[in-house]
Amino acid sequence: MLITNLRALVALVPLVASLPSMPSFINKLKSLSSRDDQCPYPTHYKITSLQVWTPKNGNTHPIVVDFQYADELTKIATSCHYNGTQPNAGPEGFTPRYACEDPTVQFMWITETSSLSMIELACPHTPDSGMEALDQITPRLSCVDTSNTTPFGEGSQCFSLDFAILGNFTALDPIEPPGGN
Ligand SMILES: *[C@@H]1O[C@H](CO)[C@@H](O)[C@H](O)[C@H]1NC(C)=O
Ligand SMILES: *[C@@H]1O[C@H](CO)[C@@H](O)[C@H](O)[C@H]1NC(C)=O
Repeated sequence: MLITNLRALVALVPLVASLPSMPSFINKLKSLSSRDDQCPYPTHYKITSLQVWTPKNGNTHPIVVDFQYADELTKIATSCHYNGTQPNAGPEGFTPRYACEDPTVQFMWITETSSLSMIELACPHTPDSGMEALDQITPRLSCVDTSNTTPFGEGSQCFSLDFAILGNFTALDPIEPPGGN
C-alpha cells in the first residue's frame, strides 16, 4: 500500500512540473484525474462548424444549433444538434441543456448573450465519475437574415467567424442528478 502511494506521488511530480505555465485550474484537473491515465479529466475542447439560427418577428420556430465537438485527450468526437425536438438532458429548475450524439457531451445555447455553455462528463462509467467539466464561450458570429421562404422562416442565421474555437474548461462540478432531488 505504501509502495503504491509512493509510486502514485512520484508519477505525479513530473506531470505537474512539466506544466509550470498552465493555469492552476488545469493542474488541479490533472491532479484529480485518475492516476493510471486511463481516465483523464476533460481540460480542452475544440468546436468547429458552429451555426445558430434564431427566430425573429414573432416566428415561433425553436432555435436551431449545430456544431462538431472534439476532445483529443478523452478521445471524443461528436455532433451536437438542437432544433426544439431534443429533450432537456439536465436537472429541472436549471437552464435546459441538450445531449450531443455522444451523451458524455452536453451544451446550452443562451440566446440573450449569444453564448454557448459546454459540459463534458468526467470519467463516465468509472469509479471516478460524478463530476462534469464546464465552460462558457461567446463565439464571434457573422449573421444573415432569413425570410419566410426559407425552411425555418424569418430569423437570423449565424456562422462562427472562427474555423475552430479552442476552449478550455474553467470549472469542475459535481453532476446534478437529472430531475433534481
Ligand atoms: C430535428 O432534429 C432531428 C435530429 O435530432 C431530426 O431527425 C428532425 O428531422 C429535425 N426536425 C426538424 C423539424 O428539422
Ligand atoms: C485556451 O487556451 C489556449 C492556450 O492554452 C488559448 O490559445 C486559447 O485561446 C484558449 N481558449 C479560449 C477560448 O480562451
